[in-house]
Amino acid sequence: MPEIGELERNSAYAYVLLCAHFAGTAIVAHDGAELAGFVLGYRPPTAPDAVFVWQVGVRPAWRGAGLGQRMLDEVVRRAGEVAAVRELQATVAPDNHASRALFHGFARRRGVACAVRAGFPAALFPTAHADEELLVIGPLPGGGGHG
Ligand SMILES: CC(C)(COP(=O)(O)OP(=O)(O)OC[C@H]1O[C@@H](n2cnc3c(N)ncnc32)[C@H](O)[C@@H]1OP(=O)(O)O)[C@@H](O)C(=O)NCCC(=O)NCCS
Repeated sequence: MPEIGELERNSAYAYVLLCAHFAGTAIVAHDGAELAGFVLGYRPPTAPDAVFVWQVGVRPAWRGAGLGQRMLDEVVRRAGEVAAVRELQATVAPDNHASRALFHGFARRRGVACAVRAGFPAALFPTAHADEELLVIGPLPGGGGHG
């Protein structure tokens, strides 16, 4: 989905790996035959009760209608059917307002905290890159399900 411009493009092999090995925490949203959005996540080996959202994207025509929120809800719900999900984690660039609003909204609707911690500093990246702050949302009740 090249028009989701803010997302860093990774190799096709990386996406295939994510979908093959972490299908339980990957979502693709369709509107009829059209792809509308996706979420790729996984449980970090160092934090198996968390779901880390690596990338979330909604095509421009479908933005602002709650699809991002619905996909996060669904990823956490599906993961929670396998094992409890206590936290949702993501890293976000400071100037990505839509992404920050998405994750803060997820926390607010559940009445839980969204802690902002040091994530991946710009110095880790070989080319120009903003600091990535780590958002930690939780504790999620009841294994992650909503409502
Ligand atoms: C971030 C993104 C996935 C949000 O998807 P979306 O379907 O438009 O989000 P939603 O409609 O579910 O909105 C979620 C919240 O974000 C807010 N929001 C959405 N777009 C916004 C924008 N451009 N600026 C500020 N807030 C915004 C909504 O008002 C909503 O807030 P609320 O929960 O307080 O009501 C989408 O903008 C996108 O694909 N961006 C490019 C890719 C990207 O940056 N991904 C994140 C980094 S991996």
